Amino acid sequence: MAFQLDSDASLLKPVRIGDVVAPNRIFMAPLTRSRAHADGTPSDLATVYYAQRAAAGLIISEATAVSEAANGAYVNTPGMYIDRHQEQWAEIAGAVHEAGGRMFVQLWHVGRMGHPDISGAETVAPSAIAANMAAHTPSGKSPLPVPRALRTDEIAGIVADFRAAARRAVDAGMDGVEIHSANGYLLHEFLSDVTNRRDDSYGGAPHNRARLTAEVVEAVVDEIGAGRVGLRISPGGSAGDMREVDEVSAYEELLTRIAPLGIAYLHVLIDPTTPTFGALRALWSGPFILNTGRDTETDFCQLESFAEWGAISAATVGRAFLANPDLIDRLLLGAELNTPDVATFYAPGPVGYIDYPTLAELEEPQSA
Ligand SMILES: Cc1cc2nc3c(=O)[nH]c(=O)nc-3n(C[C@H](O)[C@H](O)[C@H](O)COP(=O)(O)O)c2cc1C
Repeated sequence: MAFQLDSDASLLKPVRIGDVVAPNRIFMAPLTRSRAHADGTPSDLATVYYAQRAAAGLIISEATAVSEAANGAYVNTPGMYIDRHQEQWAEIAGAVHEAGGRMFVQLWHVGRMGHPDISGAETVAPSAIAANMAAHTPSGKSPLPVPRALRTDEIAGIVADFRAAARRAVDAGMDGVEIHSANGYLLHEFLSDVTNRRDDSYGGAPHNRARLTAEVVEAVVDEIGAGRVGLRISPGGSAGDMREVDEVSAYEELLTRIAPLGIAYLHVLIDPTTPTFGALRALWSGPFILNTGRDTETDFCQLESFAEWGAISAATVGRAFLANPDLIDRLLLGAELNTPDVATFYAPGPVGYIDYPTLAELEEPQSA
């Protein structure tokens, strides 16, 4: 695939996102790559990988656990809850900044998507409803267990874990954090009418289902400042065996409640042709970042139109950035893009991680 952006394209214009000015509006989407050490410390390969992609307007990191119990959806995913994690994230922040980039760390709790054989911890969720899916554990594929419903008195601890991880991210030199409330993980599970059947103040009516994500956003804003906080949601998305019946009301409550905080951005994974997109877009006056999340290749033509009309402040691109460290240059030149290799998305090691060639490397004469 090739697509050429004019040098005066809207996607190539700078945009202010909270405390950061991004030089272009093509951001790198969060991508779990399963290359961290078993204790959740990112590897040195991650430093190379992210620095290679520093030309993105903003890099949003792979999902990163706020506590040991918050991890466990995939093997070898990183954390941000001990000093060793923070020190390695500081290396990454330094390398990305040195290469001219900007970076937020995405923070998650995996909720019912966690498997005890990966996390070593009990799987917890808003309600005892299992995802009808399997996890890839160290000993092979295994169905996700029925989670234990969190007690009301445990929820403040989860909010505190997000707050503490955000503090660590900023202390590591990151430009901010993105709170992951999408794709069927814990915060999304609370928002959803399918996975949240609670009868306390965190369940039932839409404003109750929105409460946990809102409290996390409020706590993280209080800790590191609104200009360094983004939020990702995926209303109506099917990832994580999640299909909300009412995909609007809890999100309306959430966006209305957090709007006065003035966070850096709202990042929405959604088909922009749906009525839900229109309803939620109209509710948000701050920076709005879109990820169209289709199975097909990124439609840069569509994204450029949205940016031109002012419907979006920026777009995140996942697989195309994964496979093209020099994506921005290629779009400017209208060059062919490397094809992402699905087989190495979550495989260990450098192959399919830091060895996707830039255009310049492809054009170098091969030595005999
Ligand atoms: C390998 C892979 C890992 C992903 N990991 C995450 C993640 O850690 N956090 C997240 O919010 N979304 C994650 N996603 C979803 C992407 O952020 C994005 O929404 C999806 O790839 C669609 O965008 P694209 O068409 O530009 O690739 C992942 C997607 C892929 C392909």
